[in-house]
Amino acid sequence: MRILGIETSCDETAAAVVEDGRLLLSNVIASQVDLHARYGGVVPEVASRKHLESVLPVIEAALDEAGCTWDDLTAVAVTVGPGLSGSLLVGVNVAKAIVFARGMPLVPVSHLESHIYANWLGGDGEETPPPSFPLLALVVSGGHTDLVVMEDHGEYRQLGHTRDDAAGEAFDKVARLLGLGFPGGPAVERAAAGSAPSFRLPRAWLPGSYDFSFSGMKTAVLREIHQYGGKGAPVVELAAAFQDAVVEVLVTKTVGAARAERVKEIVLAGGVAANSELRQRLVARSPVPVRLPPLVFCTDNAAMVAACGYFRLRRGVKAGLDQDVIAGLGFTPV
Ligand code: KG4
Ligand code: ZN
Repeated sequence: MRILGIETSCDETAAAVVEDGRLLLSNVIASQVDLHARYGGVVPEVASRKHLESVLPVIEAALDEAGCTWDDLTAVAVTVGPGLSGSLLVGVNVAKAIVFARGMPLVPVSHLESHIYANWLGGDGEETPPPSFPLLALVVSGGHTDLVVMEDHGEYRQLGHTRDDAAGEAFDKVARLLGLGFPGGPAVERAAAGSAPSFRLPRAWLPGSYDFSFSGMKTAVLREIHQYGGKGAPVVELAAAFQDAVVEVLVTKTVGAARAERVKEIVLAGGVAANSELRQRLVARSPVPVRLPPLVFCTDNAAMVAACGYFRLRRGVKAGLDQDVIAGLGFTPV
């Protein structure tokens, strides 16, 4: 089965073709990052207009790169939420037009669930075996921070989530405070690179729960900056101290949950999964194997949507042409 995935939930217009949920045939991403950088964050109205411009050329490029015609496709999988409504609408409506014109099934996909499926990509089923259940997924993106046990395809049990900022959101906000630019995660990582944190920021452990809280760490950074009267704050040290605090909490809670739930492996997912400090420390401390998606599949892409769509279609999940966007969606579409 060859599935065309379409992803427009935030600020990347992406299309990809994936065979049987694992084999990548193409992966095209048009990033809007430069467009939004001057505003210090994603401007929803600007994002949806840019998606409109990019979506058809991106889909055509994905078909070209895969060496596919429309006739070679089995279905179209599209992100229906969570995300920015205006952005999601572009992908969902294009997907509907394609399936209507070609008489193919439409598979609705949750952006969060699809991030987990980045871990199925890249293998042909022989060389790299697929993840084995039950697994523990740490989904860390710009909008979400979730610890989830996945018992099987489509079967999730959420153990914890953030009570305030998402991990990526906290990275973005701290980068802005430190004048490091947008997107903040990679900027903080670059600034902190190679320097051991010279002081400790407070951690919010929320004992007895797998929930997270990052806004206190962000405020602690702001307090430090104020101590320097807005000038001359030690940017490198603060970036390193912040990254150290976020990574320590994420790794400690994930490792604790993996032990308690007796999972077979841990999979990392979402934009913050690109952070090398997080990747290294999770691998170092985990009692079970850790699967780390290649960097290009951590941040938003459509290959993960096609992979997720394949496993949903195999379970018979399809949408009608009345499928709407669901901006506040959780893991599995209704
Ligand atoms: O998954 P994603 O591309 O989009 C959402 O679904 O939100 O995640 C984007 C988030 C941003 O907050 C970005 O700052 C963060 O992922 N991010 C990182 C890194 N690369 C991206 N955070 C920390 N370290 C990185 N290397
Ligand atoms: Zn994402």
